[in-house]
Amino acid sequence: MSSGDAVREIADRAGVPVETGRTMADVTTLGVGGPIAHLLKPSSIESLARVVRELAAAGHRPRMVGGGANLVGGPAPIGDPVVLTRGIKHGPLFEGSRARAGCGVVVKKLVRKCVEQGLGGLEFAEGIPGTVGGTVWMNAGSYGGQMSDVVREVSLLDARGTLTRRAVGPDDFSYRRSPFGPEDIIVEAVFELTPGDPAALAARLEEIAGRRLASQPPGERSAGCVFKNPPGDSAGRLIDALGLKGLAVGGASVSDVHGNFIVNRGDATAQDVLDLIELIKRRVREKSGVTLEEEVIVWR
Ligand code: EPU
Repeated sequence: MSSGDAVREIADRAGVPVETGRTMADVTTLGVGGPIAHLLKPSSIESLARVVRELAAAGHRPRMVGGGANLVGGPAPIGDPVVLTRGIKHGPLFEGSRARAGCGVVVKKLVRKCVEQGLGGLEFAEGIPGTVGGTVWMNAGSYGGQMSDVVREVSLLDARGTLTRRAVGPDDFSYRRSPFGPEDIIVEAVFELTPGDPAALAARLEEIAGRRLASQPPGERSAGCVFKNPPGDSAGRLIDALGLKGLAVGGASVSDVHGNFIVNRGDATAQDVLDLIELIKRRVREKSGVTLEEEVIVWR
């Protein structure tokens, strides 16, 4: 049996739909990247656990994609099975001031539902693209908040498909960093929130949405900020100050709105994006001495 047939058989046994003919461009917000041999789309934690367990036992190394909002596909084909976790989208389920949500819940929905419920603490995340799993895994943040401020428990699958629960607190995380490794799959998270007046929380949401609209490229395909901020500075400010807004390679260009965003003008290729990332890093290093580090994850 070919390795591809084996992946399909394992997925079938676990009741997980498989798609072929899909690309990294299809599953990422930036919209670039090469073909995916097998795209697996589980809709429950149980079927995800089973498929991960059986794939691992057969020697495969599945790769996870959540919202694909902080991920850049390279040009090369992805032979490893790719698992899309968006179908695991139960919740948010409320228990007192806690909200429990599956990894595939879109952050925008989580934020809105919490505000409607009169629970505050996640308004900072208004407008962060992506899903619960990915944003907790990378400790996404904006406007003075980050996921670690509110996440208190995580359910994880390890590389062998074993499910565990882990209590977490702010000290387990740092800037864009969580205690979870590349092989940990976050399947559910519990957030501790603070009761508040829904109207006041909604007003705060609108304020954050307005700030984001004014400073980040709305409606364009991007992967959010490409680089981590260097200590004490903003990568976007630095790139802007060097006059690099609008710098382009093929269809990929530095946003005219925010220097730390690369936007896909419609026909960008994966190679365009990778080349532009390297060009920005080189120019910034040469002109300011700062070595920028990618915030986005690049699958080569
Ligand atoms: N600035 C410029 N030019 C630019 C961009 C920014 O001069 O092109 C200036 C701004 O005017 C401001 C300062 O730089 O004075 C900081 O800018 P901003 O408030 O946009 O924040 P940032 O440091 O560039 C960070 C996060 C964003 C998050 C915002 C808002 C990182 C890498 N970026 O950006 O997160 O939304 O703060 O809080 O930490 C992301 O991680 O994907 C992301 C977009």
